[in-house]
Amino acid sequence: MITRREFVKDGLAALGFLALPGGLFAAPADWKPAKKPNLVLGVLSDTHLQVGWDGTSVHKLFPHTYVRNAMKLFKKRNIDALVHLGDASHRGITRELEFHRELFDEAFGTRGGPVKLFIVGNHEWYGEAFKGGGGVTAAGLWKDPVERAKHTLCADMPRRWEQVWGEKYEEVWHKEVKGYHFFGRHWHEDEYKHAGEKPFADYILSKADQFSLRGTKPFFILSHRRHHAAFCQALKDFPNAIALFGHWHWSNADWKTIFFDADTFGGRFPNIQVGACRMDGGNAVTPSSEVKLPEDSSSWKGDNLPSRQAMIINIYDDMVVFERHEVGKGGKLGPDWVLWSSQKGRRRQKRPKGQRRAILSLPSLLLKSRSLWPTGTPNRASTHTK
Ligand SMILES: [Fe+2]
Repeated sequence: MITRREFVKDGLAALGFLALPGGLFAAPADWKPAKKPNLVLGVLSDTHLQVGWDGTSVHKLFPHTYVRNAMKLFKKRNIDALVHLGDASHRGITRELEFHRELFDEAFGTRGGPVKLFIVGNHEWYGEAFKGGGGVTAAGLWKDPVERAKHTLCADMPRRWEQVWGEKYEEVWHKEVKGYHFFGRHWHEDEYKHAGEKPFADYILSKADQFSLRGTKPFFILSHRRHHAAFCQALKDFPNAIALFGHWHWSNADWKTIFFDADTFGGRFPNIQVGACRMDGGNAVTPSSEVKLPEDSSSWKGDNLPSRQAMIINIYDDMVVFERHEVGKGGKLGPDWVLWSSQKGRRRQKRPKGQRRAILSLPSLLLKSRSLWPTGTPNRASTHTK
């Protein structure tokens, strides 16, 4: 008997969709969903804004161009919620978080605007705020520890967070936006021992009945660092979860930023790393082809050539569509990624222009995938576990 998954996979393959890890598919370039989404998310990660030598102005080498561009894009697309997956502040200085508040207000006004779904990363948490060294570190800017504490996030994160965002700081949190559930976890002091993961999973599990998390409707899990085995196994009964994380600064031009850890971690839901949006980044797109990049290797080199990227996620009744944007020159990094949550949804989608109904042969799919992707070839049974 054919499974639903196989049905969706084979049906989509016939329409020119390429299977990716985690149940996602890369849509043909001219494909568009037929309906308006129920919910639109703007997603940023690792913006790393930083102050200059006076401790308050914008660092000359790191202007806000790309974050501002992303905000304009999000405003234009009328997003319902803004996700930031952490490392907003480069040096852990409060002023750097205020930069984000100012950019947010500039785009959306001081009242209302999209719901804030923000995560604290390691740079806010440690932020080199109290580390030695001179220059544009808190230790270099404010020699007096008492004065320094006034300017640094880690000196009193809950107070600073509330001061900037006007919202209470909670180590783990839940928010509901237009009927969709979001769970967030900030950086944990024992992050590298995975200490925050099990309590976070327990927290989500404790809310499963209250929020009807079981089923096909997607819900979102946000963290700065990728979750590992204990977390994925604890939530193995929730294939409808979608986890987003940052931290690595890998380019979303590469489908290998989708992790589906069924084999190694026992996970049953995709973990997607969102690319960085930082000023000193390499541009992961060229005018001729977003996938034949001189900077291909940047996908795997993290800080070496970080990227200036933003994601827009559209949530429909039956699918989730991930748009991968470049916010330097503008445009998309590549075809949208699509995650189907129900079988019937497939039939309601417009067929891509010129796409024939006939099922494509496997060789033609492989040929197509080789021309589409920069490194490796996604295939219909692939999982990626690195
Ligand atoms: Fe970062």
